[in-house]
Amino acid sequence: MNRFTHLIDLDDFPVSYIEKIVNLGADIALNTAKYSEYCKDKVLATLFYEPSTRTQMSFQTAMLRLGGTLIGFDNPETSSVAKGENLKDTTKVVSSYADIMVMRNPVEGSAKAAAISADCPIINAGDGGHLHPTQTLTDLLTIKLEKGELENLTIGVCGDLKYGRTTHSLCKTLSKFSGNRFVFISAPELAMPDYIKDICEFKEIYSLEDALPELDMLYMTRIQRERFTGTTMPQKYILTKEMLAAMKPDAIILHPLPRVDEIEIAVDDDPRAKYFLQAKYGVYVRMALIIEILKNEYPTKLLSGEFSDKICENEKCVTTKEKYLPQSFSRKGDTIFCDYCESLITQQQIP
Ligand code: NCD
Repeated sequence: MNRFTHLIDLDDFPVSYIEKIVNLGADIALNTAKYSEYCKDKVLATLFYEPSTRTQMSFQTAMLRLGGTLIGFDNPETSSVAKGENLKDTTKVVSSYADIMVMRNPVEGSAKAAAISADCPIINAGDGGHLHPTQTLTDLLTIKLEKGELENLTIGVCGDLKYGRTTHSLCKTLSKFSGNRFVFISAPELAMPDYIKDICEFKEIYSLEDALPELDMLYMTRIQRERFTGTTMPQKYILTKEMLAAMKPDAIILHPLPRVDEIEIAVDDDPRAKYFLQAKYGVYVRMALIIEILKNEYPTKLLSGEFSDKICENEKCVTTKEKYLPQSFSRKGDTIFCDYCESLITQQQIP
């Protein structure tokens, strides 16, 4: 039985809990000093198996501003991972040193796998091309503070929607707020996965120019080169200064960053460009998240334990790499999906 509130996927929480974190983040943005002793005796571990600037440093800043301390690595090659240590053993040990642990890992479902053996709460800071829930909290706080509401928005999501984990988490969560509609803008090879489309009201188009006039928010992303397996790079989308004339005057432009060249530098001076502010808000919302997770109000259900005789066929799933993990699947309507990476089980395997 799991004893901790982990943040693996925001779907594990009621919308009211997500709103509570965002609202607390908004208060922290205004009254940061008020929270400076909250984590006085607490240790945060950051385990980053993949490159990161904002996520890692904003978590570190968040813990330091809460009065806590830090341990961790940002290059697994300097830890025992380089000697072949498995995820279970690293997690087990580090979670016995820390009160809360943040992990980024290139393998899909790795945050859930880590939570199974952890002795403290785990926060998913990105598990391969799957999810990135704390970026979504950052995005929600930005939308709340810069647009005033999280509902009734037409949201353009542009770029790499296949491997862009930030877009998956964002659409999953924003689709729970009423009246939100999505416009997915991508090359066909980088289209939004079906498990996200299944839960959204959306349309798909290929032209960014055509999408711009109706958007309340545009979420740009870079092509995830490190995850792309095709041979020729797909078409790139670039938001230029000239294109801004077609956008609503009160629209906002977000990007999880890093930007490669999807947004022209000249766009930065437009008041609708909110991506640097968005990165700053990441500290406040992560402070709020640490505070709420440590209250341990929602012990997370990790594995259903069902269909354990089936095998996840996603080669990027953590069960492929960490062979000791039990297989586990859940049923939603007619589909059965892996509890770690959410890949759907193929027709042949359905009982
Ligand atoms: C994103 C990520 O790591 O998924 N960056 C971030 O956390 N702000 C986006 C990306 O790398 O493209």
